[in-house]
Amino acid sequence: MSAGADTEEIPLARPVLGEDEEARVIEVIRSGALSLGPRVPAFEEAFRARLGAGHASAVSSGTAGLHLALRAVGVSDGDEVVTSPFSFVASANVCVFERAKPVFADIDPVTLNLDPDAAAAAVTDRTSAILPVHIFGYPADTPAFERLGLPIVEDACEALGAVHADGVAVGARGHPAVFGFYANKQLTTGEGGMVTTADAAVKARIDSERNQGRAPDMGWLDHDRLGFNYRLTDLACALGLAQLERLDGMLADRARVAARYTEALAGLEGVGLPCPDAGGNVRGWFVYVVQVPPGHDRDDVVRELRELGVQSKPYLPAIHLMSYYRATFGHREGEFPVCEDVAARSLALPFFPAMTDAQVERVATALARVLGQPRP
Ligand SMILES: Cc1ncc(COP(=O)(O)O)c(C=O)c1O
Repeated sequence: MSAGADTEEIPLARPVLGEDEEARVIEVIRSGALSLGPRVPAFEEAFRARLGAGHASAVSSGTAGLHLALRAVGVSDGDEVVTSPFSFVASANVCVFERAKPVFADIDPVTLNLDPDAAAAAVTDRTSAILPVHIFGYPADTPAFERLGLPIVEDACEALGAVHADGVAVGARGHPAVFGFYANKQLTTGEGGMVTTADAAVKARIDSERNQGRAPDMGWLDHDRLGFNYRLTDLACALGLAQLERLDGMLADRARVAARYTEALAGLEGVGLPCPDAGGNVRGWFVYVVQVPPGHDRDDVVRELRELGVQSKPYLPAIHLMSYYRATFGHREGEFPVCEDVAARSLALPFFPAMTDAQVERVATALARVLGQPRP
């Protein structure tokens, strides 16, 4: 490694894109079929097969997929959807898109996923769906939510590669499950998403609504329902197909980097690390998020890490305490104490498949220095 590399800023994320991706995208450009072409069903089929899911529908983003999935299970005006406040804001926003109310319940302090008991206690006669989030790629306890007997939409945007304790891949339980392909994700198409489901009728509705409500057997520009433009382009699907072929390698690299971090940070006092896989659950590594010890100001830690050439960011803020959610639903501090404590202390460290052991070491040394602790 050059001397320069020792001081170069370590970025938060960096996608793996190679000649395969380039060639596939150029091929689409030369074909002229940039949208509604053959790469869309090809990507859907490859993704479906990879997970062992029944059907898959490509969409323009994870948010678009969550929106269509909620509509497909029947969420509408005045309904309540029980979900996690410790998530990216999109999983709550999509409920509001349909004039439903996101009803938050607290999270499990270990997995950081929606706590099944808290979720059960939040169910009312207006609850029309449960929306668990597989946060940071760790499988939510979906079987426990299944026992509540309500429709489920899974936010699997961070969880490609994750596997439930019973051996079923996240996204293959049959409920609509939504993946995201933004540039920092395990697999990227720049922007994009995929909804998996066991139900052919759900796929048919999503395929229609992503395309302005056009039924497949109807004529050009005939629309029999309200729809959106949530299509994914053939360019993006070509990228997705190439990424899917290298997915195993990218997931293995992420797991390797995570293991190095866990080793390097294990002796730091009071630092919360991602929970290890337990009971047969397998995490699909997406980010490496730690909680700073109580008594440290997380935002100070982020700033001081940057001064040492290490990017990090607060991740994730509690959704119910965001200005829009406070103003619209009257939320305030103290409602979800586990989430609020974790959210106030969490930061994402640099994490990407090509990260070297030396870069992990540099981050660990910088974090120890900022926390005023010796490197273990
Ligand atoms: C948990 C979670 N839900 C939803 C989304 C939304 O996905 P997208 O950015 O593709 O719309 C993301 C992506 O950042 C996410 O991490």
